[in-house]
Amino acid sequence: MYLAPDGVSRGQWKTRLGFILAASGSAIGLGNIVFFSANAYRFGGGAFYLPYLIALFAMGIPVMILEFGLGNFTGRAFPESLYRIAGKKGEFVGWWAIFNAFFITMYYITILGWVFGMLTGAFGDLWKESLPVPAFGLEEGVLDNPYAYFFRMLSTWQPVLFVLLVWIFNVIIVRRGPETIEQATRIFVPLMWIFMIVLIIRGVTLTNGFEGVMLLFTPDFSVMKDSAVWQGAFSQIFFTLSLGFGIMTAYASYLPKKSDLTQNAFITSFLNCGFEYIAGLAVFSILFAFAMVPRASTLAMMFFILPKGISQLPGGLQAVIPFGTMFFILLLLAGLTSSVSLVEALVSSMRDKFGWSRWKTITVAGCFGFIGSAVFALPQIVNPGLQDNGTLGFTILDFVDHWAFSYGLLIIGLFECILVGWIMGADTIRAHLNSHSRMRLGIWFDALIKYIIPLALLFVLGYSIKNEITDGLYGTAFSENYNEPYRFMRYFPGIVLAFWLLSSTLLSLRLTRKGKYESS
Ligand code: TRP
Repeated sequence: MYLAPDGVSRGQWKTRLGFILAASGSAIGLGNIVFFSANAYRFGGGAFYLPYLIALFAMGIPVMILEFGLGNFTGRAFPESLYRIAGKKGEFVGWWAIFNAFFITMYYITILGWVFGMLTGAFGDLWKESLPVPAFGLEEGVLDNPYAYFFRMLSTWQPVLFVLLVWIFNVIIVRRGPETIEQATRIFVPLMWIFMIVLIIRGVTLTNGFEGVMLLFTPDFSVMKDSAVWQGAFSQIFFTLSLGFGIMTAYASYLPKKSDLTQNAFITSFLNCGFEYIAGLAVFSILFAFAMVPRASTLAMMFFILPKGISQLPGGLQAVIPFGTMFFILLLLAGLTSSVSLVEALVSSMRDKFGWSRWKTITVAGCFGFIGSAVFALPQIVNPGLQDNGTLGFTILDFVDHWAFSYGLLIIGLFECILVGWIMGADTIRAHLNSHSRMRLGIWFDALIKYIIPLALLFVLGYSIKNEITDGLYGTAFSENYNEPYRFMRYFPGIVLAFWLLSSTLLSLRLTRKGKYESS
């Protein structure tokens, strides 16, 4: 058993099942239930599958094997793992990943706070036809539900409270690391599957429900030459499998050395993508049955469009309330098992580095995290027309998401493959992986890690950046739509990037106890 720098055990999973539940709980999240379907629809239904499957097999599974291998080989969380194989530059990439992921977690938890708010509405108000919206400073009006309910909530300070609650849940679940995470996921993960299956049965048995499913699988190959589809598929795979977050490395550091990591990676990936696939059945059948066109952004899908579909289920409120409640509980459980995984990855990285006690680390992480999440919940109305994102918090969220999700994860994936493939040597990690695995990784694994994945990532990233430049940087259309005091937000991506670079550099330069990690 590995010791944390303070000499306390770093913790270990009790059983292999516990590890699988926790890793798949991390992977299965909001990404599986709504983001996937929204992306799939946006990119032409069935056409998304091909890039998605290619990304899964050629990139997702190998990178997961790599992240598991790294954590298990070094017995440390992400930054120190990379430090051990590649020195300071490795550590820098490690902290960058952790910061990137921490930003994602902050807004992810804000979204969960909104889910919580919607859940409290699901017992009543949410299902009313419409609600007045006095809070907007628009002309007094009445909006359709659940749109109205959501924006009424967003324009108050309530979500900050919900966000606090969700952070408290997170802290409770990670309080003793793998031990308490295992306890929680043993209940949450099976429950998620049950709720999902109930929703699917309801969805596909609706009149026309099954046609919706067909819609999801009807290919439209014309979009395949669009680089955005590939970037979408690549980022979706990284996000949904929790790769590029440093999570899988931290989780695998709590496994005994003799674990069959390759098999674990396959099981985790298949559980995740299986869940994603069947979630598509539920989402598309409900959408189609009620003849809705989801041109939707992912959040619209989650907060208006699907709830709108649920509100029209046959059987009136007696059916709507239980299914609606179940939908939001499902989102909350799925989201929690994901967010705790990053909180844990962060806590274990910081403990490796500073040797702090668990409680001290959790308190620090929780306080910063809560402040960050509260920023995304800021209720000020920035866009009086309420097109796109009406509130200040929501708009900042959109910016951060654009960079952290669409670029951050892929950039980290790229560096991670280079560090492990070229500096540590793909064959070294492969030997470690093969030493306890039933399935032997061949030389193809080295080829993927050293050449194919980095090149594919470089290509997609390069293309996206080129589009970003030729089509105008995200956010330039901005100035016309927004109120004067809020136009400064254009600079937000730059500020965030500077912060990332600076803090990762600082962390990997010094600040360690005695300036470096223990050599054990
Ligand atoms: N895999 C998750 C999903 O599909 C996303 C995720 C994993 C995540 N770990 C996270 C999000 C940590 C925020 C923080 O939804």
